[in-house]
Amino acid sequence: MKIFVDSANLFEIEESLKRGLASGITTNPSILSKEEPRGLSTHIRDVISLLRKYDAQIPLSVELFTTDPEEMLVQAERFLTEFGDYEQLNVKVPIGWDELRVIHAIRRMGGRVNCTCCMSYNQAVIAAQAGANYVSLFWGRIRDVGYDAATIVRQVHQSLKEAGSSTEIIVGSIRQMIDVNEALQAGADIVTVPPKFFPQMCAHPKTDEAVQQFMRDYSAWSQQDVSNDERALAAVSGH
Ligand code: E4P
Repeated sequence: MKIFVDSANLFEIEESLKRGLASGITTNPSILSKEEPRGLSTHIRDVISLLRKYDAQIPLSVELFTTDPEEMLVQAERFLTEFGDYEQLNVKVPIGWDELRVIHAIRRMGGRVNCTCCMSYNQAVIAAQAGANYVSLFWGRIRDVGYDAATIVRQVHQSLKEAGSSTEIIVGSIRQMIDVNEALQAGADIVTVPPKFFPQMCAHPKTDEAVQQFMRDYSAWSQQDVSNDERALAAVSGH
């Protein structure tokens, strides 16, 4: 069970790294588009520098930004050349017939692949068959069209396990905290989580209640201690 950070925001990534939360980083063109527009290469290089600063040799997924099959191959080669010094770079390729050719080509070039935008059992297993290191199933989007995301994740998990596949399942498209729990319980190897959910995942009203009670009780007890000391001092000095 691993948690990835679904963000390209340097501050959010750093806050997760500081807490040892990030076992990987996933980005996509929409996630990148939320950042200051200063070019993909510059931004991804900054993410890599941040990961190195924290000694985090963790998977980083960067998605192709074209749907043209020939251009996808060109971009994939460019990613491998530009960011290939980061061994854990994963080229994110959406699932599709032409895209399988790109996945296969990247694997033959020695690159790693996160096959993304999978919404069904068959898409995920065929991506694994083509050699993807990760298959990303989109929990929220699958549910948007009325399918049971947990069943799909469970079935993919079962089939990959039976086949002895090394492909790992990433569940993305997390919309609420409960999605993380359900996805992990359904057999996701990894859930990639938008960082806004992390503080919420650590919180519980009963935790706050317990901590506040401990602070109150300790404070009352230590005050008593002070008054006892003061009384003892007063007795010694005769006042
Ligand atoms: C996962 O790798 C994707 O980046 C992401 O989770 C997509 O989710 P969305 O439905 O929020 O676009």
